[in-house]
Amino acid sequence: MVSQLSRRLCAIASVFVLAPSTAVAAAVSATPAQTFLGVGGSGVWWPHDLFNFPESVRQNLSSLLFSQAGLGLSNYRYNIGGGGVNVSNPVRAPETFYVSAGVYNWSADPQGIYFLKQASAHGVPSLTAFVNSAPAALTSGHASCNGAFVNGTGLAYGTYIADVISHWRAAGLMINFISPMNEPDNNFGPSPCGQEGMMVSANQRAEVINGVYSALQAKGLQNTVGILADESSSLSLATNEAATWLPSVIDKVAALVHHTYDFPSDASYLAYVNSMKTRFPSKATWMSEICCSLGSANGAGRGWSGGYDPTIGNALMFAGLVFQSFVLAGEPHYDFWTLVSNQLGCSPLTSSTCATTPNANGWTDGMIYYDSSYSTTKNYNLYVTKHFWTYKHFGNFVKPGSQRRPLTGSDVQQYMMAVSTPTTYSVLAMNPNSTASTLSLTFPDAVCATGAFRTSAGEDFAAVAVATRPAGAWLLPLAAMSLTTFTFDRRAC
Ligand SMILES: *[C@@H]1O[C@H](CO)[C@@H](O)[C@H](O)[C@H]1NC(C)=O
Ligand SMILES: *[C@@H]1O[C@H](CO)[C@@H](O)[C@H](O)[C@H]1NC(C)=O
Ligand SMILES: *[C@@H]1O[C@H](CO)[C@@H](O)[C@H](O)[C@H]1NC(C)=O
Ligand SMILES: *[C@@H]1O[C@H](CO)[C@@H](O)[C@H](O)[C@H]1NC(C)=O
Ligand SMILES: *[C@@H]1O[C@H](CO)[C@@H](O)[C@H](O)[C@H]1NC(C)=O
Repeated sequence: MVSQLSRRLCAIASVFVLAPSTAVAAAVSATPAQTFLGVGGSGVWWPHDLFNFPESVRQNLSSLLFSQAGLGLSNYRYNIGGGGVNVSNPVRAPETFYVSAGVYNWSADPQGIYFLKQASAHGVPSLTAFVNSAPAALTSGHASCNGAFVNGTGLAYGTYIADVISHWRAAGLMINFISPMNEPDNNFGPSPCGQEGMMVSANQRAEVINGVYSALQAKGLQNTVGILADESSSLSLATNEAATWLPSVIDKVAALVHHTYDFPSDASYLAYVNSMKTRFPSKATWMSEICCSLGSANGAGRGWSGGYDPTIGNALMFAGLVFQSFVLAGEPHYDFWTLVSNQLGCSPLTSSTCATTPNANGWTDGMIYYDSSYSTTKNYNLYVTKHFWTYKHFGNFVKPGSQRRPLTGSDVQQYMMAVSTPTTYSVLAMNPNSTASTLSLTFPDAVCATGAFRTSAGEDFAAVAVATRPAGAWLLPLAAMSLTTFTFDRRAC
């Protein structure tokens, strides 16, 4: 028999256990910060495999990536293949259009073109083409890796790039950005290589930009197709090398794009952004590639590493990286690396927990995974991780032309932002803590709550209760270990 007192103690204890809630107060700024350009990811190297999947799965995948019911990406990065000469992994050896100078095989790379067409058909507004290596005939080692750009070939290389872009634009695939040297700091050797790559020393990069620009100009495309450079692997390399090549070609570059494989601290990221702003004030910087880190929701343990972690903790860690670029650095655009990956590190047909459980053998480099043995197992399932659902918040609500509205207030976290359009606000707020919290928020104009979507350990972009306003401020509940987007119309209810 339970006494009255112990029953009451139990009641008090359960209140304590169920509602240990903290609160964060903030105000949405009346003044916009940056205008967003897009949220995207790369079409490497999975098109090689996914092209072989049944048409229904290819369609489903395209919808998962490119439609608003899926990620709702606004940018897709198509890899112009170099032919994979000396690349040992056939999945990472995309075919090349290049036959010889001015001669092309436009039937090559049906795999990559299929998904580029899907992106275009779904209305993805921005299509970036990027290159890991020039065609083998043009590189120092006559291979697609373990070599370097050759001085004096800038115009030949640029002509090839411009020919490829203008061909596919004429076919309706409106590529509007070109990145002619992805990670020029690495040749990805020794041979046989795990992927394509071409070293372009800092002192050669201006020739590449000049060659591509001139060739685009010859086709009247120099104002239509923006050149992105230089996709340095890390912010530290980008900061150190820019002075060597960038000043002489700054007017020919559309934006300064970088990877963040050094997983920079906030201070290092700000140092990079401020250095570029000071030296090249007319150009935006943005994130064009990241993957492959373990680590937990609050950012602890992040850094380049193998290991597969499909769980909410790691997905929130990656969401925190997006917030770092958008909120801390104020950048307008974000691309993840390979949207789809076969690096599960386990066999989903022999283990029912394979796709949902962390393991040390795989890589956290995708958002959707597939069975690397699909050709023998005929397993054409797609395995969607928490990273897909957290990235969907950005893909669905951070649209080109929308603007970031900073949140102000002494306890505001970097993991929160408001996004405005002329008629709406979306508030993306992450709670990386193991206790629930409430964001108490005021707006500079009248708003009416319209929706809310939450991703947590147990929810995948689930519709949840909209924000409420019992008194002055709006209350936005932030469940433990979650990312929630609250939507509002800019009108009184
Ligand atoms: C062009 O590429 C396609 C697809 O890989 C291939 O089947 C065909 O043989 C190539 N044609 C030439 C002339 O190389
Ligand atoms: C490409 O592979 C061939 C054959 O193994 C080798 O002789 C050559 O050196 C390699 N090229 C480069 C650039 O590594
Ligand atoms: C290539 O050209 C750059 C710029 O003129 C020069 O600094 C560099 O030494 C050259 N590299 C080679 C291998 O000739
Ligand atoms: C698409 O794939 C996802 C992930 O495997 C699955 O949940 C969904 O049912 C599929 N949809 C269709 C229409 O096949
Ligand atoms: C998470 O915990 C940190 C440290 O206690 C705190 O500053 C932050 O406001 C919390 N976040 C939320 C959303 O409650």
